[in-house]
Amino acid sequence: MGRMHANVYSQLEQAELVAVVDIKPEVGSKFGGDFGVPSYTTLDEALASVECNVVDICLPTWLHKDFTVAAAKAGKNIFCEKPMALNVSECDEMIAACDAAGVRLSIGHCIRFWPEYAKLKEIVVSGSLGKLLSVNLTRYGAFPSWSSDNWLADPEKSGGGALDMHIHDTDFALYLLGTPQKLVSFGTRDQRGVGQIFTTMTFGDQIIHLEGGWNLPRTTPFKHAFRAIFERGAAIMDAGPLTIHEDGKEAVVPEFEKMEAAGGGNISDLGGYFFELKYYVDKLISGEPFEVTTPDSSKESVRVALEEISQVP
Ligand SMILES: NC(=O)c1ccc[n+]([C@@H]2O[C@H](COP(=O)([O-])OP(=O)(O)OC[C@H]3O[C@@H](n4cnc5c(N)ncnc54)[C@H](O)[C@@H]3O)[C@@H](O)[C@H]2O)c1
Repeated sequence: MGRMHANVYSQLEQAELVAVVDIKPEVGSKFGGDFGVPSYTTLDEALASVECNVVDICLPTWLHKDFTVAAAKAGKNIFCEKPMALNVSECDEMIAACDAAGVRLSIGHCIRFWPEYAKLKEIVVSGSLGKLLSVNLTRYGAFPSWSSDNWLADPEKSGGGALDMHIHDTDFALYLLGTPQKLVSFGTRDQRGVGQIFTTMTFGDQIIHLEGGWNLPRTTPFKHAFRAIFERGAAIMDAGPLTIHEDGKEAVVPEFEKMEAAGGGNISDLGGYFFELKYYVDKLISGEPFEVTTPDSSKESVRVALEEISQVP
C-alpha cells in the first residue's frame, strides 16, 4: 500500500513525497529509488532528516497505534491505512494523541471514495430511487500472500480476514445507514482468524447483508460487488459495471470521470485510493473538517467489525 499511496501522491499537484521509511533497508532503498526520494529504516531518522507535514502510515495493522502516536508527538498530520487499529482502545489512544498534538488524522477507508460506491451513497442520500430497502455487500478473494513476514496470517497482528478485508464493507454499511440496531454474524475460522463472515445488520426496516472472505483458493480472482434495492429501482455492481435500474426507464450505466495519470494509465484505475488521498490533502490545505470519513467513524467500524467477529464461534 505504501507504493500505491506514493503513486497517488505523484499525481497530486499539492503533495510531494519526500522520503520513505521501511524497516527492511533493501525494501526501502528500492522503493525510495523508484520514487527518487531518500529512504530510512526508522521514522525517527526520517523525521530528523527531512521536513514534512504528513506521515502516511502503510504499516502492518498491529503497528498503526504506536506509529500514529509517535508521528502525532512529532507534530505531524497523519494518514493511516485501515483498519484503524486492532481494538477500540488503540483507536482511542490514536485519537487522543492527535487531539493533544493538534494534528489531523484520517484513516484509509477507501471504499467511501470508490466511485461506484460513492455513487450508491449519493443515490441513497438523494432519494432519487426512493427509500433504500436492502443492500448486499460482497468482498472475497484468495488469501493475500504478499505481506512482509506473512504478518496477515497472524490474527494477533492483522485481526484476521474480517478485520483486515471485510471491514471495508462494514465501514461502508455504517456510512450508508449509521450504527445497526441488530447484527447477526456467522462465519468460519482457521489458524489465520475468521476466514469467511456472513453478517446481517438491521437499521429499522432496512437491511444490509455482508459477505466477506479471504480463504478462497489461490486462483480465485478478487471480487467486490453490491446490490442495492430501493422502492423504485436498484443499483447493481456485480459481474459488470455499476448499473442503475429505475422503474419505467431504461437501465443506465454511469460514466465516471477519466483523468490521465502522469505515469500512464488512468487516474480512475487508482480508484478510491486516489480520491481518498486527494480529499485528505485538499482538506488539510483548506483547513476544512473531514466529513466523508472521520477518526470516530473509523473507530466505530473497528468496534462493529469486532462485534461481528465475536459472534463467530
Ligand atoms: N485500503 C486497502 O485496500 C488496503 C489494501 C492492502 C493493505 N491495506 C492495509 O495497509 C497496511 C499495510 O499493508 P500491506 O499490504 O502494504 O503490508 P506489507 O507487508 O506489504 O507492507 C508493510 C511494509 O511495512 C514494513 N515494515 C514492517 N514493520 C516495520 C516497522 N516497524 N517500521 C518500518 N517499516 C516496517 C515492511 O517491511 C513492509 O515493507 C495494513 O494495515 C493493511 O490492512 C489496505
